[in-house]
Amino acid sequence: MKVKSVNASNDKLTEPLADIWSQVPGKNLGLAPSPIAATQYLSPFMALKTDHGTVSNVELKLAHNGRTIFARLRWKNDRANTVIKDLDDFSDGAGIMFPLTPDANAFAMGDEANPVNAWLWKADKEKPFDVYARGWGSSQRRSAEISGLETQAEYIDGFWHLVFKRSLRTSLIGKELVNFTPNSTLGVAIAIWDGGNKERAAQKSFSGNWEPIEIEP
Ligand code: HEM
Repeated sequence: MKVKSVNASNDKLTEPLADIWSQVPGKNLGLAPSPIAATQYLSPFMALKTDHGTVSNVELKLAHNGRTIFARLRWKNDRANTVIKDLDDFSDGAGIMFPLTPDANAFAMGDEANPVNAWLWKADKEKPFDVYARGWGSSQRRSAEISGLETQAEYIDGFWHLVFKRSLRTSLIGKELVNFTPNSTLGVAIAIWDGGNKERAAQKSFSGNWEPIEIEP
């Protein structure tokens, strides 16, 4: 799919329900429950769950305006879980992940030599997190400030509409943050957590291996 080049302001593209999004083609990605038994070595308790993966698809739209990249996700979730009132409560969440090397594997969330960078939105938090991972069990949540990552979400008629926004390139050019170059290709993978179904960490639905993306010039 394309990261469409559009002539629109950051303010417009940050709004999940702005008209501009009707001009950006979307791709419907099927989601599968994560193979949680494979992570039993990390948490035998977490791996007991069998009814995770409530959300079975997500519509993804990608756009950039020459400076900033936007990812809009839209998925159905009958209840919005935005508040955590007890230890056993979890909020809805969404993650979008990119490879940091050509050999990084999305299914494994990277490995020692091939890390990945993900953006994580949680419905109960004011700001998203920038996540760095080198395989299951290794993910580090970092402040969104390290890359200027922002999100805006709207829950309407049973659907979450979420926009992730970040500059195409970060001033912190390093090995731990993804950079987007117009006229090049990359991959993207998505994970969705249904907080109402107590989903968190490995308990989620995911889009499989990298969906190829072409960043328009
Ligand atoms: C391919 C799409 C995927 C994306 C976008 C993704 C994204 C993420 C993110 C952002 C986190 C951090 C969550 C947090 O801090 O609350 C996380 C955690 C985790 N994920 Fe994934 N994930 C994907 C696939 C998978 C798969 C297939 C598994 C296998 C069951 C898995 C296992 C885990 C585990 C065990 C954790 C928690 C431990 C840790 O901190 O690394 N992930 N994932």
